[in-house]
Amino acid sequence: MIELRNVHKAFTVKDKKNRKPKRIEAVRGISFSVKPGEIYGLLGPNGAGKSTTLRMIASLMLPDQGSIQVCGMDTKAEPEGVRGKLAFLSTDMSVYDRFTPREILRLFGEFQGVEPLTAERRGLHLMDRFGMGDFADVKVDGFSSGQKQKLSIARALLHDPKVVIFDEPTTGLDVLTAKTVLDLLRIMRDEGRTVIVSTHVMPMVEKICDRVGIIFDGQLHGDAPPRELLQRFNVGTLDEVFFQLANGKEA
Ligand SMILES: Nc1ncnc2c1ncn2[C@@H]1O[C@H](COP(=O)(O)OP(=O)(O)OP(=O)(O)O)[C@@H](O)[C@H]1O
Ligand SMILES: [Mg+2]
Repeated sequence: MIELRNVHKAFTVKDKKNRKPKRIEAVRGISFSVKPGEIYGLLGPNGAGKSTTLRMIASLMLPDQGSIQVCGMDTKAEPEGVRGKLAFLSTDMSVYDRFTPREILRLFGEFQGVEPLTAERRGLHLMDRFGMGDFADVKVDGFSSGQKQKLSIARALLHDPKVVIFDEPTTGLDVLTAKTVLDLLRIMRDEGRTVIVSTHVMPMVEKICDRVGIIFDGQLHGDAPPRELLQRFNVGTLDEVFFQLANGKEA
């Protein structure tokens, strides 16, 4: 279970022109929850606040205001406990280039308190499903970005996480692998895990998400099953919901 209550997060950056500190309100009072056995899709344009929200849920960053609970634990009070329950994956995760997947899986298993052979078995099983079974002992430095992404996914799931947080999981993947990842997310949902993904890929949302939240300017607009959102905005696709919100319309 994931629960956000009135979460705020701001960053201070230097203004490019006058070099003065400038405040960016990345997340402005977001509340929603995701239940076990549910896939929640977080949508929004570039810079809307999706990754910031997901990083806070993963307890990699704390909210300035408000609270986040994951599996009954507060991310502020028990960040380590929260991190132990979840898998976090984003597109900018790097893998150690000089190692092989087998070595990386064992190492990460150890970090996550999983017995190395179990970690290797689980990880290689996932690699196999992604069509990478033959690459277990090949050094990562020659891998394509999609192959590295597949290894990152396998590496993130070694400790049997109850909560799965994927920031744009299919970016950089070919359609076949993207489908495998989506099927995997569905399986994890059906196993009773809590799944949250951010994405720009609307058909994916309509296909796999049970509920959708649309972020615009750090605020949540619409938090409902995709079909309900379409009805509320009286449109045929989620793209059109997006355009309406961009034009300042509310449901
Ligand atoms: N570490 C940071 N330091 C300064 N500003 C940040 C930081 N992280 C995010 N921001 C700013 O916060 C805002 C929200 O960024 P965020 O990465 O959450 O957006 P996003 O919805 O994930 O966008 P995208 O679709 O491009 O990935 C942006 O204006 C971004 O520049
Ligand atoms: Mg992002």
